[in-house]
Amino acid sequence: MPLHPDARYVTDVAPSSGRLVAPRADLAADSAALSLDGDWRFRLYPGVDEADAAASEVGFDDSDWDVIDVPSHWVLRGDGAWGRPIYTNVNYPFPLDPPFVPDANPTGDHRRRFSVPAEWVESGRLWLRFDGLESIGRVWLNGVEIGVLRGSRLRNELDVTGLVRAGENVLVVRVSQWSAMSYVEDQDQWWLPGLFRSVTLLRRPDAGLDDLWVQADRDPETGVGVLTIEVTADDAAFPVRVRCAELELDLTLNHARASVEVGVVEPWGADVPRLYRLDVSNAVESVAVNAGFRRVEVVGDAWLVNGRRLRIRGVNRHDFDPVEGRVFDEALVREAMLLMKRSNLNAIRTSHYPPHPGLLDLADELGFWVMDECDIETHGFVHVDWAGNPSDDPQWREVYLDRARRMVERDKNHPCVVAWSLGNESGAGENLAAMAAWIRERDPGRPIHYEGDHSDEHVDLVSRMYAPLEELVRLTEARPGRPIIECEYVHAMGNGAGGIAAYEALFDTNPAFHGGFVWEWRDHGLLTRTPDGTPFYGYGGDFGEVFHDGSFVCDGMVLADGTPTPMLAEYAAVVTPIKLAVGDELTVTNLRHDSSTADLVFAWVHEVDGVAVARGVFQVPAIEPGASASVALPELALDAEGEHWLTVTAALREATPWASAGHVVSTGQRKLAEVARRRPTGSSAAVAEGDGYTLGDARFDRRGALVSVGGLDVTGGGVTLWRAPTENDSLATMGSYELGDPATTGGFGVPGPSSAERWRSVGLDRLTTRVLSLDVSASGLVVVSRLAAAQASVYADVTQRWSWVDGELRLEVAVEPSDGWTVTWPRVGVHLVLPAGYEEASWFGTGPGENYADSRVAARVGRFSAPIDELTVPYAVPQETGHRAELRELVLTGGGLPEFVVTTDDGSDGRPGFAVARHSAEQWAAASHQHELSAPTATHLYVDIAQHGLGSRSCGPDVRPEAALWPRALAGSMAFRVV
Ligand code: GAL
Repeated sequence: MPLHPDARYVTDVAPSSGRLVAPRADLAADSAALSLDGDWRFRLYPGVDEADAAASEVGFDDSDWDVIDVPSHWVLRGDGAWGRPIYTNVNYPFPLDPPFVPDANPTGDHRRRFSVPAEWVESGRLWLRFDGLESIGRVWLNGVEIGVLRGSRLRNELDVTGLVRAGENVLVVRVSQWSAMSYVEDQDQWWLPGLFRSVTLLRRPDAGLDDLWVQADRDPETGVGVLTIEVTADDAAFPVRVRCAELELDLTLNHARASVEVGVVEPWGADVPRLYRLDVSNAVESVAVNAGFRRVEVVGDAWLVNGRRLRIRGVNRHDFDPVEGRVFDEALVREAMLLMKRSNLNAIRTSHYPPHPGLLDLADELGFWVMDECDIETHGFVHVDWAGNPSDDPQWREVYLDRARRMVERDKNHPCVVAWSLGNESGAGENLAAMAAWIRERDPGRPIHYEGDHSDEHVDLVSRMYAPLEELVRLTEARPGRPIIECEYVHAMGNGAGGIAAYEALFDTNPAFHGGFVWEWRDHGLLTRTPDGTPFYGYGGDFGEVFHDGSFVCDGMVLADGTPTPMLAEYAAVVTPIKLAVGDELTVTNLRHDSSTADLVFAWVHEVDGVAVARGVFQVPAIEPGASASVALPELALDAEGEHWLTVTAALREATPWASAGHVVSTGQRKLAEVARRRPTGSSAAVAEGDGYTLGDARFDRRGALVSVGGLDVTGGGVTLWRAPTENDSLATMGSYELGDPATTGGFGVPGPSSAERWRSVGLDRLTTRVLSLDVSASGLVVVSRLAAAQASVYADVTQRWSWVDGELRLEVAVEPSDGWTVTWPRVGVHLVLPAGYEEASWFGTGPGENYADSRVAARVGRFSAPIDELTVPYAVPQETGHRAELRELVLTGGGLPEFVVTTDDGSDGRPGFAVARHSAEQWAAASHQHELSAPTATHLYVDIAQHGLGSRSCGPDVRPEAALWPRALAGSMAFRVV
């Protein structure tokens, strides 16, 4: 049965309709407002057709309805009784049959009574504001239908003057989950219906300041500011006064627009977000506007703000909270943005819709370059080769234009917004072109971005996502004289992305590159529970969805619970604008946009074997943006035995709004010398004993596998080539470099299975061991074994030379691959199984965070300690984690167990790294959520002679060849001791 005529609005292709107020700026006005957030009566129907027609009537009795709090998503309330979230990425979770949507269209009636004081209705106007509802809302006030609202993440205001009564009023909002609009809101995120942003009744005085546009331009040469103020209001609203004490400005506007020169002003920028508060007022209303003086231009291949090229150290950010979904919480968002600032991030792309307006207020205040993106994505049409794509269908033109208008008008006053983005992954078409044309005309002061326009015809910024290095280089040739950015790159899914530093190095080679935005800030895991009540952060498929995209929604530098991942530290270290090169002297380069280094203290510490022996502070002159300075290194005594390292930090001299004094902005390090240690001597013989062998205080079984050391159960000691695949290992959105050289494939690799599939295809996850020889002698035990998998002809031979020297068990390992390997190896590691219960690790090596061959900039050499539980990262999907390269010494303690000490030697393949974890690689690989891991029964120690890099192939390029672990002869040596 077709939809009842009364319900067909859900499939209309149209912008919002009804008593709409023209889109206007988000203004902090002193006129009264009544928040309608809070408890509303709520009833959910299975389809829009089923909604109770009488519910819109004033006298309707809703006393038996449920209660829901607004703002909220109903699927995140009601413990599943109101449906559950659905996650899809590119796919639509309904048939591709525009503009129709399924009959099963969850529809929530929200009803609320509110009172207004009598004087509110006696004079002036009343506007009802909806900041966001997903995906369509039909609204009645006091029984009168007042509008149909569309554009989930856009603001709608309705003029309800004359409809509001003194005393009690009844507002009814019928929100349906699906509508024609869902076709243009196909962003990679949860589908979360509801009234998820605030509802407010505004008292608008007659002749009030309805709309204001304050443009604060600053001549980069002279520093002279020009304010242009545009007032959209009734004639009666004039004169309008604009005052700014700091600028000694007191201007009276008698008509809509005026420009005034305000003398030399300080610029607004992401480093120094200097705001000037303007008071704009007339007889009835006063509005506070934070003006930031800056000029945004695209000149040739330069995207300039205040005359300097931007360097985007950016992140894609969704409005997301693991409990509240897209409901905005200012305090939490501020905290996240402070963490971004502390992590050297200076830019946000509001992927993929205009954020809650509070985000832009915070960005103005704290300093971020913002790319404000419109609420448009039609990605699912890619599966039909974009046939019927709304972006190129004239019937959708007004929808597109309306969305552009509502974004630009709402957000136009924010100095932080330095580019408008038309939307995301919506193919190409006339409607996008029309949006670009409208925006260009309305706001020539900001460049336009849209990654999907590969003709680069309608946009000012040439943008790509996940483009490999080679493709970016090619773009500089294909698009000469144009600024280039990566609007998404280095996909932060699971462990990774690796290879960030290679991008940064490339960006440094050509000024046309303006940096990029990491995909993305935070995992979108939603807090839920297993049937037995264990809380966890769920992803696609955890909410009973029949059709979903799994864990692809968890791809942030911050886990769902807000914990920063090691990638955040790596990104911060790579993109730091304060470059410290510690060579024969210290060279500091300041790549900040607009502040000198006067706020930084450059300190040094000299460590011998990780222990500080001297400290000091460099006298570095204040370096202006773009400039460098060098100073001499301190004179240091380098004769003590051990490794001598000089570590330099650039730290904040004083607290800032985003960090405390002492916060480290950049670190540099150099090994100054190594004075050889005396080598222990005196080895013991291996002897056959019982069913195995004894070597000093170590015991082995009859096949030469370790059984105990110093009386402690330490088993295994064999070589493993397997790691629990990371999501970059197990997904394959781009080609494989294992199958083809990036240089000859444009950096895209050759289409092919994921690394994990390739590894599994040769059985790296199920290697078996066959002992080839076992040699017992006065110098120890030599075990030669062959690792191979069922039905595989390739193998690796492992030689293990065990000796007991000076109270410790030494192991020299050599691995030799057979001919014929066609896949990389995940790792070459010695796996030891210790008793469960160890609590703490302290080590001299690299740290503090996990680090891999292509993700090592944040790691420094030093002494670190951490609880064992913190050595690994609880990624949404369990996977390889916790590797730290170049170990010198590791001490495991706690749990009433004897200390277990590991040391390594520096050999021809460098020093082995390590990982300590509660679970083995096999256990991790078998689980798809952290809570599926069984209670630990052991402590797993991996001493890795090598590990494959991380790459970004879950969405982007493979591990670069430099960081790939191809089968080759490798050797390492280490020692174990029980204290
Ligand atoms: C991009 C898209 C993002 C996200 C990302 C992968 O293609 O724009 O929304 O899906 O890939 O996580």
